[in-house]
Amino acid sequence: MGLVPDHIKSLKPYVAGKSKKEFKRKFKHIDPIKLASNENSLGCSPKSTQRVRKYIDNCNRYPDSSGYELRNKLAEMHELSIDNVIIGSGSEGIMSNIMRTFLHGNDKIISSMNSFIGFRVLADASGYRTSWAPMDNYHYNLKAIADKIDEDTKIIYLANPDNPTGTYFNKKEFDSFMERVPNRVLIILDEAYYEYALDLNDYPDSMLYRYDNIITLRTFSKVYGLAGFRVGYGFAHKDLIANLMKVKLPFEPATLSQEAALAALDDSDFLEKSILSNRQERDSMYDFFNEHGVDYIKSSTNFITTYFSDDTINHNICNKLLERGIIVRSLDAFGLPHCMRITIGTELENNKFKETFLKVYEGATV
Ligand SMILES: Cc1ncc(COP(=O)(O)O)c(C=O)c1O
Repeated sequence: MGLVPDHIKSLKPYVAGKSKKEFKRKFKHIDPIKLASNENSLGCSPKSTQRVRKYIDNCNRYPDSSGYELRNKLAEMHELSIDNVIIGSGSEGIMSNIMRTFLHGNDKIISSMNSFIGFRVLADASGYRTSWAPMDNYHYNLKAIADKIDEDTKIIYLANPDNPTGTYFNKKEFDSFMERVPNRVLIILDEAYYEYALDLNDYPDSMLYRYDNIITLRTFSKVYGLAGFRVGYGFAHKDLIANLMKVKLPFEPATLSQEAALAALDDSDFLEKSILSNRQERDSMYDFFNEHGVDYIKSSTNFITTYFSDDTINHNICNKLLERGIIVRSLDAFGLPHCMRITIGTELENNKFKETFLKVYEGATV
């Protein structure tokens, strides 16, 4: 059909991890465990649920379009002005707004291969030229990304820590990279998993730097356990934020989402509990994989990626886990068809994963 541009015709859409409801449509009699989308299996703060109940009757009215309360609270917490803060429908919503706001003419987008697929789909859908640098042993190769910068480069996207590898680049790598980035290039620094990386002393927390050409993106979807509410936030120079505010949809995020996020910021106990549980469970998953000779990538996030000697073995394991009610993610769409990503769940969920994995692993590798 002539109506559809070529870059949309050839676009590979985002394929999300299977939801429990989607799973139940196929396997009616199994109650699945979902370890496919890096959500927080502990749920969310009870303060968020209480607050949502309180505001549920206000939803005949539009949300506050300036997002004043949430932006203001985030600004106070980070000792910024509200003019440095944006909120949106998930951090992906903000990524999409960044592209609509800043790209024009011959602009080009650069990032890494095998990184966050959500960004890749947005970049491909934008119709602008893209260039993807190879990774180095499942790590971002910032040198290779910097080598690609040319006069048309407008946006560089970096996920730190990265999804789906779970790896991070350190301060030294980031400092050397920034020396090579001209001010006219906008860096999207996606820190969706930043809370899980706080124990690393060489992690370059972008809020401790502040460059005028960096937009930091964070989210309530991961450690805060509010993925279904779709709230992300970003910090940047006030001129960048002012222009983003012109382009963003006026009423995102929804009223209940803004309220849930506000309440989440008041519950540091829930945050700590989630980070601690993730750390303990991650170590126990490492022990399990070590014991059974399964290769994995060390992770600074709430998921672990394992890799196998060939794609078929991986596909067999993922399919067999699925048939037994364990939803994990085979990383074909990320260009890593020999890899499987497992979100770190609760102790109970992880034990179920381990038990089921053992049943399918031997059969799949012989
Ligand atoms: C690196 C990365 N960035 C962004 C997102 C999306 O976050 P949000 O739910 O805020 O759109 C994800 C979700 O998986 C992610 O892994």
